Amino acid sequence: MQKKYITTPIYYVNDKPHIGHAYTTIIADLLKKYAEINGISTFLLTGTDENGQKIEQAATMHNTTPQKYADSISAKFRDVWDSFEIDYDKYMRTTDLEHRYGVQKAFEIMYKKGDIYKGEYEGHYCVSCESFFTPTQVIDELYCPDCGKPTSLVKEESYFFALSKYQDRLLKWYKENATCILPLHKRNEVVRFVEEGLQDLSITRTSFEWGISLPKSLNDPKHIVYVWLDALLNYVSALGYGLDYEDAKEALSKLDNKDIKRLPSLESKLELFNNTTHIVGKDILRFHAIYWPAFLMSLDLPLPKQILAHGWWTREGVKMSKSLGNVIDPLEVKEAYGVEALRYFLLKEVPFGQDGDFSELAFKNRINGELSNDLGNLLNRLIGMSEKYFDYSIEGTLEDLKTSFKEELVKIDSIITKLPSLIENVQFHLYLEGIWELLTLANGLITKLAPWTLIKEGRIKECNTFLVLIANILLKTALLLYPILPKSTTKIGESLGVAINATNYKAFIKEKKLQEHFRITKIDALFPKVESLKMQAIESKEITQAKAQNSKEDSKNEDSKKDTLPQSTEGLIDIAEFKKIDIRVGKIVSASEVPKSTKLLKLEVDLNEGRLRQILAGIKESYSPESLVGRQVVVLANLKPAKLMGLSSEGMLLACKDENGLDLLSIENSKVLGAKIS
Ligand code: ME8
Ligand code: MG
Repeated sequence: MQKKYITTPIYYVNDKPHIGHAYTTIIADLLKKYAEINGISTFLLTGTDENGQKIEQAATMHNTTPQKYADSISAKFRDVWDSFEIDYDKYMRTTDLEHRYGVQKAFEIMYKKGDIYKGEYEGHYCVSCESFFTPTQVIDELYCPDCGKPTSLVKEESYFFALSKYQDRLLKWYKENATCILPLHKRNEVVRFVEEGLQDLSITRTSFEWGISLPKSLNDPKHIVYVWLDALLNYVSALGYGLDYEDAKEALSKLDNKDIKRLPSLESKLELFNNTTHIVGKDILRFHAIYWPAFLMSLDLPLPKQILAHGWWTREGVKMSKSLGNVIDPLEVKEAYGVEALRYFLLKEVPFGQDGDFSELAFKNRINGELSNDLGNLLNRLIGMSEKYFDYSIEGTLEDLKTSFKEELVKIDSIITKLPSLIENVQFHLYLEGIWELLTLANGLITKLAPWTLIKEGRIKECNTFLVLIANILLKTALLLYPILPKSTTKIGESLGVAINATNYKAFIKEKKLQEHFRITKIDALFPKVESLKMQAIESKEITQAKAQNSKEDSKNEDSKKDTLPQSTEGLIDIAEFKKIDIRVGKIVSASEVPKSTKLLKLEVDLNEGRLRQILAGIKESYSPESLVGRQVVVLANLKPAKLMGLSSEGMLLACKDENGLDLLSIENSKVLGAKIS
C-alpha cells in the first residue's frame, strides 16, 4: 500500500499557538492514525514559518532578533504538539538550512525554465497576510480583502512568477480531480477564482531583510524570496528536496542536524510526493490550491492528492484575537479537560469546512453526555456486571450470539459499513455520529434486556452471551474511535483484553469478526463527570470596555424614556426620517454570478409582492450562489433602482462586514415573507 504524506500548515511564529492551530494539527494526527490502523504507513509533517516581514516586525516589537524570536515561539508550538502527543515525523522550520537550499534550488529551476522574470511591482501589500493585491481587489483602496487590516502601497523592483501561464492547467487539474479540494463548495470557489483570470505573482521583496536570498547564480542580493513561495516549499524541502542542490553541499556537510539524518530515503520520498494530503484553514486555501500546484507544475513535481480546508473557530461567539485577550491556549484546555475530550469536541462540534464556536458549556455538555455517559458508562456497566456475575470472564459462542442477536448483529454491520467513507470524505462529525449509533444500541439493549433480571431468573447463559455482545460492540467502537481518542480507546482495549491495532482493526472491523471470550480488567472511569467550568473566564480591557459601552447605551435608553434629549442632535435622524425606510424580510429564489465581476452576485428575491425583484449584491466573496438559494434575507426595499455592470438592481441586502468577512442579516423565526421591519 502506498505511503501517505500528511501535512499541516507551518504556523507563523509571530504569535503563540492557540486552539485554531491545534484543530488543524489534531485533524492531521487523526488522519495519520486512521491510515495507520488501516495498515497504511504515513509521514506527518508540521512546523513553523519563520521568515518574512511579519516576523521581522514582531521581533522588533519584542526587542529581540528575528532568529531568537523565532526560536522561542517555534519551541512553544513544538511543546504544545509534544504535550498533545501529536505523532509528527518531522518538525519543519523554515530557518533550517536544508529548507533554504530547497527554496534556492526551486527558484533557480523556475527561473531557468522562464517561469520567473524580473519587473516592477506596484500595488497593495498586507503584512498580516503577507499577501499582494491588485488595486481592483482592495476594498476602498486601503484595506485587505482577506483580513480587513490596512494595506500598504508598495512600489519596488520584483521578480514575478508567471502564474497566468498555469491558469488552464490548473483548471484542467481541478476538473480531472473532482475531489482534490474538499469540501466541494470551497473547491468551487477556487475554480471560480481561477476562471476569472490569474495575474502573475510578485515573488521577491527588497524592503526588508529577514528571509531567504535568491540563488547565487542570479547575483541579485537585494532580493528576498516572498514568504509564501518560501513557506509552501517546506512541503518538499522537508523531504530533502534541496539536499542535492549545488550550493548546499559544502554547508550541509558541516551540519550536524539530526533532522537531516531522519530524512526519508529517496524512493520513499518520491512515493510520498505522489500521495500528499495538505490540511489547511480556509484562510490559506488560495495559496495551497492555486499557487502551490502552479509552483509544483513549474518544478515538474507531482501535485497533491488532496487539499482539505477547514473553517474558523471563534470563542463564545467572539473572534479570537490577541488584542481582545480571548485566545484559547491549548495547554489551558488540556489542563482543564484533557486532550482526548478536546479532540472529540473539536471534531464533533462542527462539520469539517464550517466555522465553529468554542463554547465551554457546550464542551462540558459533550463530555458529560457523550463521553462520560454514552461511552464511559457503558464500559463501566460492562466491567461491573462481568465482575458481579462472571468474575470478569465472559463467554458466548458465535452460534449463540448469532441466534440470540441476529437482528442486532445485522444492524451493527450496517452501521459500520457506512463509516469509512465518512471519515475519508472528512465528515468527521458524521463518522462520530455513526459510532454513537453503536453506543446507543448497546445502552438501549442493556435497558431492554436488564441483565440483572436475567440473572435473577436464572438465565445465566443468556446473560453471559449478552455481555459478550456488549463487549464486542465496545471493542469495535474502540477500534473505530482510535484515530480520535487514541488513549481512551487503548484503555478500553486493555480493559477488554484486546489490543487496539491494525491487525485487530482488520479482523473486527473489515472482516467483521466477533470474539467469543473476554477476560475483563477493571479500569478507572474514562471520562469523569465535569461538575463546573474549569477554564479561566475571559476578561480583558476591550471586553470590559465593550460591556461598559453597552451599559451606557442602556442608560441612554433610560434617558429617552424620561424624554430628555441628548445634548447634541448633530448627525441624528428623527423617527419620521426612519419611517421612510422600508426594510422587509425576503427570500432568495435564485442566485447566479455576474460575468466579469469579482464581488457581485445576481439574485432574485421574493418579497411577497407578486413578482420577484432582481437585486445585485456584493457578496460573492463570502457566499456561493448555491448556498444562497432558499435563504431568508433582510432587504432595503425602497432604495432607488440602480444599474450595476449593466444590470438593474432594485434594493439592497443588509449585511455586516468585519475582519472575518461578510455576514447576511436574517430574522430569527420570521415566517412571513415581505414582513416589514421597524
Ligand atoms: O497562515 N480557527 O500561518 P498561521 C481555525 N504561515 N483554524 C485556525 C485559526 C482559527 N481561529 N487560527 C489559525 C500561516 N488557524 C502560514 C502558513 S503554510 C505553507 C504557511 C490554523 O500561523 C488554520 O490551519 O497564520 C490556518 O490555516 C492556520 O492556522 C494559519 O496559521
Ligand atoms: Mg494567519
